[in-house]
Amino acid sequence: MVRIVETSVRDGHQSLFATRMSTEEVVKLCKLYDDAGYYAIEVWGGATFDACMRFLDEDPWERLREVRKVCKKTKLQMLFRGQNILGYRHYSDDVVDMFCKKSIENGIDIIRVFDALNDIRNLEQAVKSTKKYGGECQIALSYTTSPVHTIKYYVSLAKKIEKLGADSICVKDMAGVLTPEDATKLISALKKEVKIPIELHSHCTAGICEMTYMAAIKAGVDIVDTSVSPLSNGTAQPSTQALCVALKGTEYDPKLNMKPIHEAEPIVTDIVAKYLKNGLLNPKSFEVNPNILNYYVPGGMLSNMIKQLTDQGAMDRYEEVLKEIPNVRKDLGYPPLVTPMSQMVGTQAVLNVLNGERYKMCAKEIKDYLHGKYGKAPGKINEEVKKKIIGDDETITCRPADLLEPEFDRLKEKYKDIAKCDEDVLSLALFENVATEFLKKKYNKQETEVDEFEMFI
Ligand code: CO
Repeated sequence: MVRIVETSVRDGHQSLFATRMSTEEVVKLCKLYDDAGYYAIEVWGGATFDACMRFLDEDPWERLREVRKVCKKTKLQMLFRGQNILGYRHYSDDVVDMFCKKSIENGIDIIRVFDALNDIRNLEQAVKSTKKYGGECQIALSYTTSPVHTIKYYVSLAKKIEKLGADSICVKDMAGVLTPEDATKLISALKKEVKIPIELHSHCTAGICEMTYMAAIKAGVDIVDTSVSPLSNGTAQPSTQALCVALKGTEYDPKLNMKPIHEAEPIVTDIVAKYLKNGLLNPKSFEVNPNILNYYVPGGMLSNMIKQLTDQGAMDRYEEVLKEIPNVRKDLGYPPLVTPMSQMVGTQAVLNVLNGERYKMCAKEIKDYLHGKYGKAPGKINEEVKKKIIGDDETITCRPADLLEPEFDRLKEKYKDIAKCDEDVLSLALFENVATEFLKKKYNKQETEVDEFEMFI
């Protein structure tokens, strides 16, 4: 029997309509999903944290607590970017520890941790802390293809992860480039070499995902990630209902209780219709796009790049930029294109094409990467390019977070006028500007409500 993790309320809307589902919508669906018999529901982390405050004026911690209240039987899962937590820089170990603690306290059961470079050292603290507070820790391997990303590479990484103390491993194919043939080889090899459960997470962007899932299931994968349709396919995960039909009566039958899922369908249909109507969901997101198999570009990265080019009035250079991506990636030692590397490589490709000279201009993040501040590159960095960008600067080879002083107490002091709890401090630590504005509004509003109430007494 294969188990299922439901993704519609996290990756589903993050991939299809920029993470705009409201807490009310998420809670309504989770209440039904709780009776379906999923292995877990992915409800938090990724871009949901930032989007809650930035676009919806909602507290992400409150969303988690609300979901926990209605999910009494099913495990709740979140996505966590290793030493980056949910932000874009490296945080010190004590902040990572506090974030794991508070996530678990507020209702998370499973923390899925990944690092864009698959640098194990960036995962260590998150694993340690998740286990310390009684959580289940899953490590996700960022999947990509390149001369260094072979089956042997992934198997050796998986063995190290098992040793690190992870409870399970996920193959995280954010761009949807894993083919059925490669899935058969990779999953078979992982099942042979490691004992902990293996999960597969992919996207339908290239149009091959269902076939890949089937191949992985036959090769013995334990869990797959799917999303309730019509909030599925396109740049999101395959349909939960369709997979259940395809596996019904077989030895892999996930045996979900379909009644609550069918009850959720009209709600999901209304949500999809709402975001199609307000334009946040572009019907293009549902189109099959096999081109990504050539460029390894995740959906979100593509839309980012299109925006950068449109802003510069340079959409006519789109094809050139697409072709430059694999070159930049090679120069940087083949990083998997997942946040934050996808944004960094995409922006560099745009700069290289628009400036008419490669690496004439570079973002600070690329310089930091070359200095070793993100960890170890998977492959060899092009020395000529490196020299052009950072000259003979010294680079670091230790675990990047070893250079960071503990910072939680300092942050707590810094934000003492705005933050009312440790959760607020963490929100501010991750997204200072957005959280400052959000929390000011939140607490001002509450104070005004109290004042008005007092006036009537
Ligand atoms: Co995903």
